Amino acid sequence: METDWIIRPERPEDRRETETLVREAFWNRYRPGCTEHFVLHRYRTDPAFVPELDFVMEERGRLVGQIVFSRASLALDGGGTFPVWTFGPLAIHPDCQRRGLGLALLDHALEAARGMGVGAVCMEGALDFYRHAGFDLASKLHLHCDGEPPDAEVPYFLARELVPGFLRGVEGSYRTPRGYFAADDDPAGFAAFEATFPPKEKALGPGQLPQSCQSCGMPLARNEDCGTEADGGRNFDYCKCCYAGGRFLRDFTMEEMIDHCAGFLDGENKHLPSPVSEAQYRERMRAFFPRLKRWRTPPGNAVSV
Ligand SMILES: CC(C)(COP(=O)(O)OP(=O)(O)OC[C@H]1O[C@@H](n2cnc3c(N)ncnc32)[C@H](O)[C@@H]1OP(=O)(O)O)[C@@H](O)C(=O)NCCC(=O)NCCS
Repeated sequence: METDWIIRPERPEDRRETETLVREAFWNRYRPGCTEHFVLHRYRTDPAFVPELDFVMEERGRLVGQIVFSRASLALDGGGTFPVWTFGPLAIHPDCQRRGLGLALLDHALEAARGMGVGAVCMEGALDFYRHAGFDLASKLHLHCDGEPPDAEVPYFLARELVPGFLRGVEGSYRTPRGYFAADDDPAGFAAFEATFPPKEKALGPGQLPQSCQSCGMPLARNEDCGTEADGGRNFDYCKCCYAGGRFLRDFTMEEMIDHCAGFLDGENKHLPSPVSEAQYRERMRAFFPRLKRWRTPPGNAVSV
């Protein structure tokens, strides 16, 4: 394996190159386009950000990898909070993946974190990669993911103790720091930032997280199912039945949307393993719709932890 690389702290003059690298690595990977470069851009001034653990990997004068860490916390089941840390974005340039660089960078950063006294790290990611760095399902350590049932084994919610026994007797729920939602919290700021990069085509694709219309909840499986902007470009947040030509086709409230969708129950029931009643269907929509972008309430008093 080539080892012609070094790992060093990120410098202010690296920032644009690092953000470009993150954009390249994440583009269309988990969803059409990506927001992780904006998360990184904003995070550097977030109080939860840990400047001592902001590393880049450089190979023959070019940045090929980056990782940053953030303070987070667990809401303990018995009340109170407990400090854990998290990290991300972690990115290796697409030209350089699967050469062991991601693991080398992560191992280096985790060792540095341990050296700073960090006891445990939680994060959301793919176990296939992170198990190589000692991560396992967080549920095995009695930790649960905010928004999921406490006994659920969430396959992407992972944790590792850097200090053995650090989480002994700790049971609680992890809340992703608000900084990771920078693009949701400031869509206009994100759009302005994204416009400073060369245009890149967004697309739905294999291996991405399931996408659904952020107005009616319909799964978005094909690019053709997506809405359109005024200039004819695709909008990947909304389906074509909800959003076309840069506007919502119906000026609904959330309740009106639920009434509208309840009319499709017979069709929906054909795809469900056991049919649901209209009352159950409405109840599910009332629980799910407030999480959709169109109906979500602004974060208001949400704070980074
Ligand atoms: C995820 C990422 C950081 C991994 O870095 P990398 O340098 O490609 O990974 P490594 O070569 O160190 O991988 C080590 C092992 O992890 C596993 N692994 C790595 N990437 C994997 C993937 N995408 N799927 C499944 N297993 C993977 C493999 O077992 C690999 O060993 P192998 O190549 O001998 O089979 C990199 O692919 C990346 O930047 N991806 C896009 C951004 C991203 O997803 N970041 C993480 C967000 S949680």
